[in-house]
Amino acid sequence: MFVDASTLDPAATYRMLVGSVVPRPIAWVTSGAAPKPLNLAPFSSFTWVSQHPAMLGFTINRRSGGRKDTIRNIEEDGAFVVNIAHEGMLESLHASSEWLGPDESEVSKLELATSDCTFIAVPRLTDAPVSMECVYDRTIAFSPTGGEFVVGRVVAWHVHDDVVTEGRIDTELLRPIARLAGPRYSTLGTITELVPLPGG
Ligand SMILES: Cc1cc2nc3c(=O)[nH]c(=O)nc-3n(C[C@H](O)[C@H](O)[C@H](O)COP(=O)(O)O)c2cc1C
Repeated sequence: MFVDASTLDPAATYRMLVGSVVPRPIAWVTSGAAPKPLNLAPFSSFTWVSQHPAMLGFTINRRSGGRKDTIRNIEEDGAFVVNIAHEGMLESLHASSEWLGPDESEVSKLELATSDCTFIAVPRLTDAPVSMECVYDRTIAFSPTGGEFVVGRVVAWHVHDDVVTEGRIDTELLRPIARLAGPRYSTLGTITELVPLPGG
């Protein structure tokens, strides 16, 4: 199959992207400082963009009614949390993508426990094995209708002790979830370890 990108409409372009860029890690983002309701949504256009300082980002697409709650909260409050779910949290993670109005909280609806963060006013998910407190850095808009890439600087990690081995986050204990195309997910498959190369 050959596809000329200039022939694709937005929906077809999206299908090519989510089929090609797989599997994707998922940022499970809490946003909205009190008195706003705590917002929760998953974003799989997620990666880190700087090693030191630690900075990460994800793309928030526009919906027909305008910008999503997550990006409005992040820009208003200057902070957000990226929580990493373990595979036992998949149903909640998926359910949290439901579009609720800005006055409703996905966290309350799903009855998820939260804990205060240390440096920011946005709570984290207590049961997520990893939570990263982030201070908003910038938004990069790619077109008036396309996605907006939101970047934050990690100011603290909260990591459950039971996923730590010798001071490092242990992927096999973490049991992360990845997103595939459509409402499909994967968990860890076979892990292969090779000898590290100089400079590699
Ligand atoms: C696993 C998963 C990954 C998602 N990734 C993205 C993404 O990268 N960008 C995006 O704009 N929406 C993504 N969505 C959809 C949002 O989660 C959804 O639009 C959500 O309602 C946004 O919430 P908000 O309006 O409270 O910000 C994803 C949904 C799921 C289930």
